[in-house]
Amino acid sequence: MIYPIYIYGSGVLRKEAEDIPADYPGLKELCEDMFETMYDSDGVGLAAPQIGKSIRLFVIDASPFAEDDEPELKDFRKIFINARIYERSGEEVPFNEGCLSLPGIREDVMRPSKIKIRYMDENFTEHDEEYEGTAARIIQHEYDHLDGKMFVDRLSPLRKTLIKSKLTKLSKGNYKASYRCKLVK
Ligand code: NI
Repeated sequence: MIYPIYIYGSGVLRKEAEDIPADYPGLKELCEDMFETMYDSDGVGLAAPQIGKSIRLFVIDASPFAEDDEPELKDFRKIFINARIYERSGEEVPFNEGCLSLPGIREDVMRPSKIKIRYMDENFTEHDEEYEGTAARIIQHEYDHLDGKMFVDRLSPLRKTLIKSKLTKLSKGNYKASYRCKLVK
């Protein structure tokens, strides 16, 4: 099932999401639906708050980046449940980010290049892993959604001012996207 994507201005995108238990109803189906929704909108990551669910779950498929210069991302298709990034390190680097909840907006965002993260997979097996490069970038972007944050929060005051009118339009329901969207204040 393909879910509509909640757009900037929706309350759920600003809430801190909650951990889920292993017996969360319909978890496997929800994960599959999130991948389906993400593929339908050509995303490489999707966090549960973006489909209106305030839970600590996000999915990533970074394989499109394998075609560029990171062949190790060829099979990077993962589900992150109850994730906690417990260390960020390395240089702060820029990367041009977009977000399905912010159609039409792309900006260079500075983030640390390396992270360490603990999370559960769909079978509630715990993982403790280290990531860098594009994988670390996408994880940090999706992880922000769980804390009610979006990449536009991380821009310089000048860039924020420059995109302010675009954000206002989005939050008033004035947007164009190739996928189904929803705005719930
Ligand atoms: Ni996003």
